[in-house]
Amino acid sequence: MPIEIESPEQMGYDAIRCNLTESSVRDLSFEDLNIDLNELVICYGHHVGKPELRALIAKDNQGIETEDVLLTTGAAGALFIIHTSLLSADDHLIVMRPNYGTNIETPKALGCATTYIDLDIANGFKANIDAFRAAIQPNTKLISITTPHNPTGVSLTLAELQELIALGAANKIPVLVDETYREIPIGKTPLPMAASLSEWAISICSLSKSYGLPGIRLGWLATKNKVLLETFLAAKEQIYICNSVVDEEIAYQAMLHKEAILAKIRHDIQINFNHVIQWLAQEKRLDCVLPDGGVVVFPRIKVPIDINKFYRVLNEDLGTYVGPGHWFEMDKTYFRLGFGWPTETELLEGLANISKALDRTVIV
Ligand SMILES: Cc1ncc(COP(=O)(O)O)c(C=O)c1O
Repeated sequence: MPIEIESPEQMGYDAIRCNLTESSVRDLSFEDLNIDLNELVICYGHHVGKPELRALIAKDNQGIETEDVLLTTGAAGALFIIHTSLLSADDHLIVMRPNYGTNIETPKALGCATTYIDLDIANGFKANIDAFRAAIQPNTKLISITTPHNPTGVSLTLAELQELIALGAANKIPVLVDETYREIPIGKTPLPMAASLSEWAISICSLSKSYGLPGIRLGWLATKNKVLLETFLAAKEQIYICNSVVDEEIAYQAMLHKEAILAKIRHDIQINFNHVIQWLAQEKRLDCVLPDGGVVVFPRIKVPIDINKFYRVLNEDLGTYVGPGHWFEMDKTYFRLGFGWPTETELLEGLANISKALDRTVIV
């Protein structure tokens, strides 16, 4: 997959006026967290990860114990460990598409055969469980989903999640559930951690997207399957030994105030999401499925358009950036709009700028 040329990490955050590319909430600062690191010894950490932090992660999830949680360098680190441990060129994977890049790219690099379950805007980007069932082969070693989903923000229902995990269990295939956005559902309570539902489920998550702490690179995987967990720990030890103890300590102190942090974040997301709903209701040139989790939406421009000019006008003339469809190997008439990261003012200006760019580039 090519580098994301139009991403803020490539261009520099200061170069963008209205940044609607992000799939996370606004980043927090040390000041927000009131953290004290003075007594921290900068040693190697526990291979599995700081026990107190693992206990905090397990605490709110019925059926999950501290020993089921392995800390990783972000959810991305967890994905790398799982893919490289479970997949080889002789194996087969079933994975949703589009998806967060790593869910597709690491298996591709490993050379394993893959069946993509394509999500379709016409079906509300819903995952079709029967399509997963039909795709199972004798050498299928992993089923992989993301819910709430990136880039669409659409979630599986609990019944769908249970059905998919039961399908994995019946066929002895682990089901990887990338639940990076689980704790920021829109207008409902989060689903249970998938790993709490079965030994055949592996949950991955991090503090990057829902907590605004991507810079500490702190994530985790959880599973009640002891054999898998030991395999993943062995892989972690080989790849990076342990997490940064600095990251772990910051994460631990932040998570002590988890409810307060999440309450503010959920409140801010709802305000911005209301603006997106209003804007979409009057922006008739877009097709859109409203998300029910996370902080992104994935509309499609449905009118004839000079698409390259659209992005040029939006980016260069109006200083506004979204995630173009090609980031997800989709047509560029789709774009991911992140509404959790910009301030309310930036979001409103960015949405107006998308409409202006459409005004200037739609073919009439
Ligand atoms: C669905 C999903 N999974 C995993 C990641 C990786 O996040 P991190 O490694 O920062 O936790 C991302 C980042 O965009 C994501 O969207």
